[in-house]
Amino acid sequence: MPTLTIDGKEITVEKGTTIIQAAEKLGIEIPRYCYHPGLSIAGNCRMCLVEIEKSPKLQISCYTQAADGMVVHTTSEKVKAVRRAILEFLLINHPVDCPVCDQAGECWLQIYYMEHGLYNSRFMENKVRKHFKATPIGPWVNLDSERCILCSRCVRFTSEITKTYELALVNRGDHSEITIFPGKELNNKYSGNVVDICPVGALTDRDFRFQCRVWYLDKQESICPGCSRGCNIEIHYNVQRAHHAGGRRVLRLKPRFNPEVNKWWICDEGRYGYKFIDDKSRIQMPYLQEGEVLVETDWKVVLDKVASTLRSILTTYGTESIGVIASPQLTNEDLYLIRKLFVEDLRLPHVDFKVPVKEKGYEDDFLIKADKNPNTRGAEELGLGAKEGSLNVENMLEAAIAGRLKALYVFGHDLTNFFGEEKIKDIASRLELLVFQGSNLNPTGQYAHVILPSATYAEKDGTFTNFEGRVQRIYKAVEPLGESLPDWEIIVKLARFMGFSYPYQSAREIFKEIATVIPAFNGLSYKVIGNQGAKLATA
Ligand code: SF4
Ligand code: FES
Repeated sequence: MPTLTIDGKEITVEKGTTIIQAAEKLGIEIPRYCYHPGLSIAGNCRMCLVEIEKSPKLQISCYTQAADGMVVHTTSEKVKAVRRAILEFLLINHPVDCPVCDQAGECWLQIYYMEHGLYNSRFMENKVRKHFKATPIGPWVNLDSERCILCSRCVRFTSEITKTYELALVNRGDHSEITIFPGKELNNKYSGNVVDICPVGALTDRDFRFQCRVWYLDKQESICPGCSRGCNIEIHYNVQRAHHAGGRRVLRLKPRFNPEVNKWWICDEGRYGYKFIDDKSRIQMPYLQEGEVLVETDWKVVLDKVASTLRSILTTYGTESIGVIASPQLTNEDLYLIRKLFVEDLRLPHVDFKVPVKEKGYEDDFLIKADKNPNTRGAEELGLGAKEGSLNVENMLEAAIAGRLKALYVFGHDLTNFFGEEKIKDIASRLELLVFQGSNLNPTGQYAHVILPSATYAEKDGTFTNFEGRVQRIYKAVEPLGESLPDWEIIVKLARFMGFSYPYQSAREIFKEIATVIPAFNGLSYKVIGNQGAKLATA
């Protein structure tokens, strides 16, 4: 294990560690363009040059491995001068598009110019103009070739991570440019990641372009709800300027590094799957069916209606007459209260969460899982699946048609996807009560007698358990839209209307109880989970 000194600080590192990595461990950030920890080393930008004592020339720190006794300087006058020179060179070939460039505010040419450049330009000539200017090269990515600094990160991503080889560097010298292979599109399942790793505004996100300047965005850590992998993400949102992006609050998702789950990446399906949060289909008020139509009302009216109808059905027909379809889209905290109210306190036997799907979801051997729910494992660990002798979803619907089931409480699912609209319409007309609790209206909700508006994952705190049993936190980024509430809060309120007094004031309090009551969650707390997650005791 070599011991070296960087800027006067000594550190011992694993054999094979590069200087840039060793410096990072000491909290020293060496500027870089082509280096990315998730990709092979290209060593072409020279931005990471450092001075190594006894070495005649500056060396690139992204490639040079730490050696015993090495003395490295990252801020000597020589290093500073060469950084300035490299920035001057890169900027000669780069248009000063900043006022109209979508990358402005998070562009590493801007950032490093301010940190390491600040020279007076000696360049008066016209800038080079490459031929791909603001060109869509795939469904999600735009290429602006004259902004490219030829770091080759995007090329390496498509050859090393997705192995789809759509991008290449062509031509030589100042004619070099990034291009897409003739006849190809950048439309692999992970294409959006090239936007994240492009250090400048050459590759921009077609979905986010010109929606909002990045300095108006706030960030919140979260977990992608798109599949059971549970990739770590940041939600980028804007609530300061409601006139931007047509009033949408959540404007983009970005991957968040977690070495155990998704490293630096997320898939396009997850990245662009956020639109439902501010979609027109959001349910913003409680609704009650009057005659054939759904009428806006308030929480007291709907909760009273649900509680009193459930009570009278229970008294007349017993616990066998009510079915509950929970959702693996919900958090562990939401699901725990569903279990508490319906399974433990009301003693309903027919509770399930697995709604059949028409087609198995797409899956690959990288991140994407076939199960498109973030918390199937959590629902299983909480015991919410149909048991022996109880009805699963399919059986519940048959029982409703046969008149044995009088009430059905559906969390978020669109049952028409698998069972067809006619069948659900028929079932709704036979039931005494069909409750739909969800964030977005779907055809199933349209046939409900009562609609309870719930918050999306971006509007509440909680946890998801991924397929490997890793429990990970989600945090509230924006307020629940309209009158909607987190599902656990709706259950607390409904429980009160049904005569139970639940003391929970926050998702944290519920999780504390889960960790003591459910053996698989023993030893976990929000603190233990942190921002990288923690595994179940049984995982
Ligand atoms: Fe690097 Fe961006 Fe150019 Fe690709 S497009 S080579 S990531 S600067
Ligand atoms: Fe080392 Fe580019 S980061 S040469």
